[in-house]
Amino acid sequence: MTENIQNKNQNEQKLKSLIDRLEHTRSLTREEWAFLIRERTPGAAGYLFERARESRIRHYGHAIYIRGLIEFTNYCKNDCYYCGIRRSNPNARRYRLSKEDILSCCKEGYELGFRTFVLQGGEDAYFTDERLAEIVSEIRAGWPDCAITLSVGERSRESYQKLFDAGADRYLLRHETYDPEHYARLHPPKLSARHRQACLWDLKEIGYQTGTGFMVGSPYQTPENLADDMLFLAELDPQMVGIGPFIPHHETPFSQYPAGTAELTLYMLGLIRLLLPKVLLPATTALGTISPDGREQGILAGANVVMPNLSPAGVREKYLLYDNKLCTGDEAAESLNSLKERMKAIGYRITACRGDSLNIRS
Ligand code: 5AD
Repeated sequence: MTENIQNKNQNEQKLKSLIDRLEHTRSLTREEWAFLIRERTPGAAGYLFERARESRIRHYGHAIYIRGLIEFTNYCKNDCYYCGIRRSNPNARRYRLSKEDILSCCKEGYELGFRTFVLQGGEDAYFTDERLAEIVSEIRAGWPDCAITLSVGERSRESYQKLFDAGADRYLLRHETYDPEHYARLHPPKLSARHRQACLWDLKEIGYQTGTGFMVGSPYQTPENLADDMLFLAELDPQMVGIGPFIPHHETPFSQYPAGTAELTLYMLGLIRLLLPKVLLPATTALGTISPDGREQGILAGANVVMPNLSPAGVREKYLLYDNKLCTGDEAAESLNSLKERMKAIGYRITACRGDSLNIRS
């Protein structure tokens, strides 16, 4: 054997033993995380996915939870350098759904079998606490057996509390990247990693099932940044984690940066499954956008959630965070049957239950 092949084998052995240790102790150092990510090989990834699938099946069987995503406003006061609905994109065609529109999305979604509604939007000042709380309480009253998830960015603790009291159960707020310096390269000075993270701790303390996450392959991201993201996940212990590849949008400052890869995104999904075995982990739209079988691959890497789009057809192509975003075909809630078939083909089944975290108040 040449020295080269020997080194390669040693490297792979080390990766596999770190993966085993991650599974058994759920604790690695920053250096170990960075090594696992930087030195990854296809062989180690295959092994990781096997371990991750087994862990997911142990806790959740072959069930896949569905969430109906309602993108209810694309107005946003923020100016994140990566995002297509940033304030300074003058070409984004802005829209906001009325309360009646949102309630009819829920009605349609319920009939299709959804038991979780995710209200996602930009940071739109029109949706004051009063307006949003009214929408939440009407959904709560109309569909008492459903979970309500909010994903509307950074708000005050009082605001989060009011929305929780109105009936919201869950909240998604990606931390985007843990490292303050990397965060500052992706966001304008007004936004900070520290404030983002403070919001997440508030949400958790209030009692929301909380979701966080990050983009994979965002500009300037290093393996050490991803290592910090994993350490942050270990500390926060969220009930949900959403990750997806960065995909450039042509009308943003990052239009010329390369997209993140499906390969690294899948690898990170596997690592997250082993770190947080009970986490609710979606195979996201962004993953489906960069790879035609991204969703299936995501499930096979350890994901257990999909979030089809319930927004009215007329606004879907306006909620463009990145270029070529999927919003028809199997991304659309109406195509649930074809999504079911695709999941069945890889041995998994979509379930209509609420799919609460097994990790509430852990
Ligand atoms: N590529 C991939 N994901 C993006 N998001 C925003 N812009 C992009 C992009 N260009 C993600 C962010 C945000 C979530 C709603 O969408 O992580 O939290």
